[in-house]
Amino acid sequence: MASVQPFEYDTAIKDLADSSNLKAVPSKFNFTNEPSALSSDSLPIIDFSALTEDDPDKRSGAIRALGKACQEWGFFILVNHGIPEALMNATFSATKEFFNLPDAEKKQYEAKSASDPIKCGNFNVTNTSNQTFTLWRDYLKLYAHPEFHCPLKPAVLREVLLEYTERTRGLARKLVEAISDNLELEKNYVDEVLKMDSSFQLFATNLYPPCPQPDQAIGIPPHTDPGLFTFLIHNGVAGLQIEHDGHWFKVDSPQNSILVNAADQLEIFTNGRCKSVKHRAIVNKERERISIVVANGPSKEAVVGPAAPLVEKDDRALYRSMKYIEYVEAQLVKSRVNGKQILEQM
Ligand code: SIN
Ligand code: FE2
Repeated sequence: MASVQPFEYDTAIKDLADSSNLKAVPSKFNFTNEPSALSSDSLPIIDFSALTEDDPDKRSGAIRALGKACQEWGFFILVNHGIPEALMNATFSATKEFFNLPDAEKKQYEAKSASDPIKCGNFNVTNTSNQTFTLWRDYLKLYAHPEFHCPLKPAVLREVLLEYTERTRGLARKLVEAISDNLELEKNYVDEVLKMDSSFQLFATNLYPPCPQPDQAIGIPPHTDPGLFTFLIHNGVAGLQIEHDGHWFKVDSPQNSILVNAADQLEIFTNGRCKSVKHRAIVNKERERISIVVANGPSKEAVVGPAAPLVEKDDRALYRSMKYIEYVEAQLVKSRVNGKQILEQM
């Protein structure tokens, strides 16, 4: 059998799902989900405005809460972050306009390789038993910083994404500073290693159409994210699940908040203190779900390994060092069904 490429643009899944007589999921999407999720209402809430407070007591309380959230859950809900709701709404409507373009327009961004700065289409995953399945999801991914790449249509997309990615990059930088404070790492040391001025930022938007058999397909299988902090907002339709204490938990976030997770390079840099937790996107029968994801990394050129002062405290480095861009490219082409493969190989 010819090997299946991870990237292709066959047809928008959205259009396939729209065809009125689709009663069953075509076999190429078949994926057996692990046991269903438990509910959770206990994801930590972090008040961004308190992290940047002048009052040192309030600030240090918020920094401690952030450290605890990254260590215990790897996920938290960020509130009072200062991104206007109107900008979030504009980001959703601009990406929706992109998904509604004719296939011929979107197909020009069909990925040829993992390192293409703009990618769009369907994604095929091969699992460790060599079974391949297609994700029940349409997506657009682009490199947003230090160079900004964007499809030309719809015209509004560029302006909106430039602003949304710039704002989220600013937030991510503050979170990195706060977590470094929490771990008593010198600011100069962190700046020198992670080179946040040229932070490599990836933007992605996922559209999960209603699925006639949600337990026979998956939006995104379990994986962890590359980078330091990932930010996710969604259109009010839940679907994200995270692994915690050996169970899957459904997570949701209140309107206008941002769901943030610690990603692989944060786990590596903190020598395992912050957890880059496995998560997955499941699909549902009734409602279209859209998520907007920004993965905020260090510089592409940063060689990320456990921070030297932490290795000294712990007496050993739990991970090896690797250039960030090499990590990203290796992860983008990997089958991601088992998640965290690269991190665990170290
Ligand atoms: C992701 O993990 O990249 C996206 C998950 C989601 O859409 O909820
Ligand atoms: Fe993810």
